[in-house]
Amino acid sequence: MLSENVSSYIENNRDRFVADLAEYLSIPSVSALSEHRDDVGKAAEWVKGRLEMLGFSARVCPTDGHPIVLGRSPEVAGAPLLLVYGHYDVQPPDPLNEWVSPPFAPDIRGGYIYARGATDDKGQFLTYVKAVESILAAEGKLPLNLIFLVEGEEEIGSASFEKFLVAHKDELRANAVAISDGSQFMHGAPAITYGLRGLCYFQIDLQIPRIDLHSGVFGGMVHNPIQVLATLLASFKKPDGTVALPGFYDDVLPMEKWERDMTATLPLDVDALKNYLGVTELVGETGYSILERRGARPTFDVNGIWGGFMGEGAKTVIPARAGAKVSMRLVPNQSYARIEEIFRKYVADNMPPDAKVTITDLTSAAPVLVSRDSAAMRSAERAIEAGFGKKPVFVREGGSIPVVNLIKNHLKQDNILLLGWGCPDDGAHSPNERFCLDDFIRGIRSTAALFFELAG
Ligand code: BES
Ligand code: MN
Ligand code: MN
Repeated sequence: MLSENVSSYIENNRDRFVADLAEYLSIPSVSALSEHRDDVGKAAEWVKGRLEMLGFSARVCPTDGHPIVLGRSPEVAGAPLLLVYGHYDVQPPDPLNEWVSPPFAPDIRGGYIYARGATDDKGQFLTYVKAVESILAAEGKLPLNLIFLVEGEEEIGSASFEKFLVAHKDELRANAVAISDGSQFMHGAPAITYGLRGLCYFQIDLQIPRIDLHSGVFGGMVHNPIQVLATLLASFKKPDGTVALPGFYDDVLPMEKWERDMTATLPLDVDALKNYLGVTELVGETGYSILERRGARPTFDVNGIWGGFMGEGAKTVIPARAGAKVSMRLVPNQSYARIEEIFRKYVADNMPPDAKVTITDLTSAAPVLVSRDSAAMRSAERAIEAGFGKKPVFVREGGSIPVVNLIKNHLKQDNILLLGWGCPDDGAHSPNERFCLDDFIRGIRSTAALFFELAG
């Protein structure tokens, strides 16, 4: 349901909307890097300014980390309330030399805008701002009440969000929540996400001998920490692709038949996927399809590893230290607290007595499933059909959005609409991240339609 007035306003203002997105994308709001602290603040102020231009009351709320922007639309008496969540922070842009155009100098090529944050999440979030603007310009008023909650720590685990949510619990109780921070199933196949994986991320630091040693004088009499670490890391996975931690699968919710059947009907193009990844073979847990592995099965990955001599030439040394970063993607009903216990015990049980091991918890997020059967979901389906000209498919995504489970539990909210406007090949977290400008416009149309659908 999208009126002719709103629809043509969106069409006629396309270039302005894109220019505004480019302005937003030029702020290097990298939450992980302290040298970008001021830029992160600038992005928060930019969002606040845009909300104020819509006539919202908005403020930048400080937290122990990066601020949260909270905006509220002018009251429409008796109309439902929709909570909109987004994040204004972005991932670090490295490796810089692989970008065709610089990450914070947005460039338009072939119908895409290229910049860090284009799809994740600045472009997707901005569709909500532009939908409000379009409705106000075309109709004079909004059909429902809106609260915007835009945070700056999503890419580093949303550590400050829970405290904020609990403190503002009562004013954030809405009829539904909308989040566009994921993706369509593929080009031309819009999707509604009903499941996200969780995350459990650790750093392992290992020291064995007191100092770096001559490998000839001492080789063969002490453990080499790199080899001990490599053996440990290799042992986390079995040849059948399962994770070897005892008890790791205890709480995994099995997929039901209807879900496996539905997943099997999704139009996955395996050759296109291999081509995008630059591989000839897709691997994973035996007995599950690619999409089942991605959405409904947990994994273990080594994200980084270091130690020893990495300079030029040959240095005959047994290093004192080695380290790695490892993470696990979790699925319902695994709890990251329980997985942390299992993980720490396994590492402790599999180290030689002399190893000094430190395990640091870097970040975590709970997995989540949301209800697919609600009036709000039916509204979202119709809205996507109005915006994209196609009915959405239902998918579980492999990525994590820490706040979704927090919102579900603290606000007792099950009407959570995860509506991704991006595409899997947008390059989120990769060099040359991009967002399709037609999807930007379709996202604005869908969002505007969603506001009217929810208002009834
Ligand atoms: N938008 C992504 C999560 C996502 C990606 C959801 C694809 C659905 C489909 C989000 O910005 C993200 O990258 N999250 C991190 C969370 C982590 C830092 C706790 C992730 O998944 O690695
Ligand atoms: Mn995101
Ligand atoms: Mn991200």
